[in-house]
Amino acid sequence: MKRFFTDKTVLLGVTGSVAVYKACELVSRMREFGARVHCALTASACELIRPATLEALSGNPVITEMFGPHVSHTISHIAMARDADLILVAPATANILAKAAHGIGDDWLSTALLAARSPVLFAPAMNTHMYTHPATQANIASLKERGNLFVGPAPGRLACGEEGPGRLDEVPHILEAAAQALYTKKDLVGLHVLITSGANFEAIDSARYIGNRSSGKMGAALALEALCRGASVSVVSGPAGHPLPAAAEVVQVQTALEMHEAVFDQLERCDIFIGAAAVADYRVETPSAGKIKRSEEALVLRLVPNPDIIAEVAAGKDPGQRIIGFAAETEEVKERAREKLQRKKLDMIVANQIGGKSCAIGNDRGDAWILTAAGQSEAFPQVKKTTLAKYVFDRLMGS
Ligand SMILES: Cc1cc2nc3c(=O)[nH]c(=O)nc-3n(C[C@H](O)[C@H](O)[C@H](O)COP(=O)(O)O)c2cc1C
Repeated sequence: MKRFFTDKTVLLGVTGSVAVYKACELVSRMREFGARVHCALTASACELIRPATLEALSGNPVITEMFGPHVSHTISHIAMARDADLILVAPATANILAKAAHGIGDDWLSTALLAARSPVLFAPAMNTHMYTHPATQANIASLKERGNLFVGPAPGRLACGEEGPGRLDEVPHILEAAAQALYTKKDLVGLHVLITSGANFEAIDSARYIGNRSSGKMGAALALEALCRGASVSVVSGPAGHPLPAAAEVVQVQTALEMHEAVFDQLERCDIFIGAAAVADYRVETPSAGKIKRSEEALVLRLVPNPDIIAEVAAGKDPGQRIIGFAAETEEVKERAREKLQRKKLDMIVANQIGGKSCAIGNDRGDAWILTAAGQSEAFPQVKKTTLAKYVFDRLMGS
């Protein structure tokens, strides 16, 4: 996330919602990621949270009034709206959405929204009846039509005790949406990216399985990078500890056969296919229906090969589709990856060193190489998976 926020200026508009406390975490996280954060609170927000809290967290004076002491300084609504890389309104009340939709500027934040030059991202939070009210829905539709961005709201239990849509989306989801809004390189707009991610669990019996150590971090990094560059993204994910971006369409599977089926269900609509999952090469031929009882005898499991998903995808690809594979190797990493690239007729392969100290599996970084069908090869020693994801799309798009 860091590289999306570093050296960016975010104007965080905070309005009078009960979810206002989550603005504190948003400010902390964005600063942690290297962003400069300026907060503007509406009068109602000031009733619900002390401006001093956000002042301390952001390290900047908080704007609370139109005609306050900042008027003649650079921190005016015009300068701020002009200089921000992103205006994020979180939480956004029904009231601020109505004002923004109708061009009303009766306080600092609503006026700054009128003067905005940067992307504007709203994270609404309100009672479910307020959210589903035709007026609010019409305001949201008109703001979207004008290019404003939205994240959430999420469904769930609201502070008023009711259930339904209206909850402020989770902080990580808001940060992902902010990262997408901040990213200016939009070279994947109009393209659909299909990614496989995570591990496979192959059943031994009703309780046990054969698995692997894939965390799903690489798949998640690729999905976020593609979303930030403007693609629509779907992920066929095996079991993985790492969360996927909320804006990705996710199909959860367990086994390689399920992954195979889900990939081929979606393949037709994709422009770029990336096989980042650690697909199980073998499965137990006949998993036991019940739980196998312990005995002192050796237990023999007969394993049969699973389909080679990426090889099948590449063999049947449309001329416009591009196929990227991953190879995890303990030795002769580059050579074996090159052989796999050629044998499976891929457009690109990302080779990862596994085993030993620099093992890529499960870690945030590792030694990697990007090899292309055109014969290019580039080494990325101890590269972060999030950075590697950027290089994958840079090389693919020739940028
Ligand atoms: C405790 C409390 C919680 C509130 N929570 C919300 C909310 O989550 N969403 C909302 O749209 N309005 C909420 N309101 C109502 C707004 O604060 C009210 O509409 C106000 O005029 C919004 O002003 P602002 O948009 O300038 O911040 C709440 C009011 C109170 C007293």
